[in-house]
Amino acid sequence: MTETLSRSHALALDAADPLRHLRAEFLFPQHAGADQAYFVGNSLGLQPRGARAMIQEVLDHWGSLAVEGHFTGQAQWMTYQELVTEPLARVVGALPAEVVAMNTLSVNLHLMMVSFYRPTRERPAILIEAGAFPSDRHAVESQIRFHGFDPATDLIELEADEPDGTISMAAVERAIAAHGPRLALVLWPGIQYRTGQAFDLAAIVRLARAQGAAVGFDLAHAVGNLPLALHDDGADFAVWCHYKYLNAGPGAVGGCFVHERHARAQLPRFAGWWGHEKQTRFRMAPEFVPTVGAEGWQLSNPPILAMAPLRASLALFEQAGMAALRGKSERLTGLLEALIHARLPQLLHIVTPSEPARRGCQLSLRVAGGRERGRALFEHLQSVGVLGDWREPDVIRIAPVPMYNRYADVHRFVEEVEAWAGLG
Ligand SMILES: Cc1ncc(COP(=O)(O)O)c(C=O)c1O
Repeated sequence: MTETLSRSHALALDAADPLRHLRAEFLFPQHAGADQAYFVGNSLGLQPRGARAMIQEVLDHWGSLAVEGHFTGQAQWMTYQELVTEPLARVVGALPAEVVAMNTLSVNLHLMMVSFYRPTRERPAILIEAGAFPSDRHAVESQIRFHGFDPATDLIELEADEPDGTISMAAVERAIAAHGPRLALVLWPGIQYRTGQAFDLAAIVRLARAQGAAVGFDLAHAVGNLPLALHDDGADFAVWCHYKYLNAGPGAVGGCFVHERHARAQLPRFAGWWGHEKQTRFRMAPEFVPTVGAEGWQLSNPPILAMAPLRASLALFEQAGMAALRGKSERLTGLLEALIHARLPQLLHIVTPSEPARRGCQLSLRVAGGRERGRALFEHLQSVGVLGDWREPDVIRIAPVPMYNRYADVHRFVEEVEAWAGLG
């Protein structure tokens, strides 16, 4: 084994890691008296230690101030969502007025499609990737039907053209060109949840807009994983959740981006009082006047308790910075890839592209021998405190998260797989 793939080298990398202190900011599930090797931050991020204090603060204000909590102090509930706006804008590369934390991903996707999916008889279609996350597919299919169109002809699903189920940019380009005049919306993932493939978002925006289509992104697996530049890339909208890489807890309030060019646009939208212009909201007048920017899409007063942990998590992103996180992420995932190639080539096949620009931190792995063997390995790993997740029909997803995973954790994964396979 070469020196750079040795366990002692990994320990040295951990000791020299400028982000290593961040691990102590999180609570780890325990296994046999030690921290789990947790590779499931792509599903549910770990709890930041600071989350409890943020929630406790809300409970304390509720207890001691009751309704006055809306108007008292720096973290008053009336403007609570504004506390996360700037750090969130930095995470996604947007202007503060382009982002809002609200609802959940699927709800936001529907709200965005109300404004940005405006089908006509000539231009009714939505383009997504085949095998899209089911909720996205349900959302686009139901929107197409809602407008009186037919998903059989107007929902276009681009099949993978690469051997492991990934999609080349050439195929995306061909599909957008082929369907261009009929496309009302291109809805694309930042990172595909099953394969872990990352896409060139700026290129997709250029291609879609050149055909006159609106373009939106599902960034569930990209936010907090890749540095993003949503403003410059120029999509019409993006939606994401905060319970994965943003570590804001189960069912956390989601996020939404609306490009600045729509900040004052008279778009159709489903409105609610929290989207009304702030200065006049409490005049309680019947006419709806939207707040300028993404906040104008809010419906209800926000669930403060569900938003509180996001503040704790974003404070850590502010400390670390996306550039440093991404630098470590490329090295961590690169190590996982190199170890699999060196020590498990007969057993694990990496589905995720190997170019760093085409992936985030997650590697999706197929186990030689098929689904049953894959499940057996997955369950073995769980039983020894190494957590990945399983995606049907046959993929184990392993996400080394730079915020809290170590180079030694990656070794632990490989060692446990070897032990199970009798390779150690
Ligand atoms: C890619 C993707 N899209 C959409 C969703 C749905 O999110 P929500 O339940 O917050 O609506 C998820 C959830 O994991 C997801 O991974």
